[in-house]
Amino acid sequence: MNEKVVELLNAQVNKEFFSAYMYLGVSQYYTRQNLPGFASWYMIQAQEEQEHAMKFYNYLVDNDVLVELSQIIPATSDYKDPLAAAKAADKHEHYITAEIEKIMDAAVKDKDYRTQLFLNWFITEQEEEERNSKDMIAKIEMIGNDNKGLYMLDKELGERKG
Ligand SMILES: [Fe+2]
Ligand SMILES: [Fe+2]
Repeated sequence: MNEKVVELLNAQVNKEFFSAYMYLGVSQYYTRQNLPGFASWYMIQAQEEQEHAMKFYNYLVDNDVLVELSQIIPATSDYKDPLAAAKAADKHEHYITAEIEKIMDAAVKDKDYRTQLFLNWFITEQEEEERNSKDMIAKIEMIGNDNKGLYMLDKELGERKG
């Protein structure tokens, strides 16, 4: 594999683990707010991010690359309100989409068809992630200051299984 493609794929392992960290922070924030459904939804999201990290990791290992396990930057559990947490998650997913597109650009430039095929899964996944984070913002905005609405949404989010 091309050096640039390897470098970007390796960096993405770290970014996906940071995503897991970020969602753990959001989950913990909601636990503190006595919203267990939100907390559980974001905990599942954090688990999903670890799976993303491992997909990149395994792809590299399968291609005989020694993966560099660099330091993960700290994540916050401190948000102003539920809307701020949801907006942070949405912003982060857009960032991740852009990063994956950068890897795709490098793979296309290098005519690395195998990596392009591998990345297709993530292109589709990011569409889902952006839709989920956008929906979350819309729901929280709809609720406004209605505590009953927040309670109902918390129950709904608590039903997420995977
Ligand atoms: Fe991810
Ligand atoms: Fe997802």
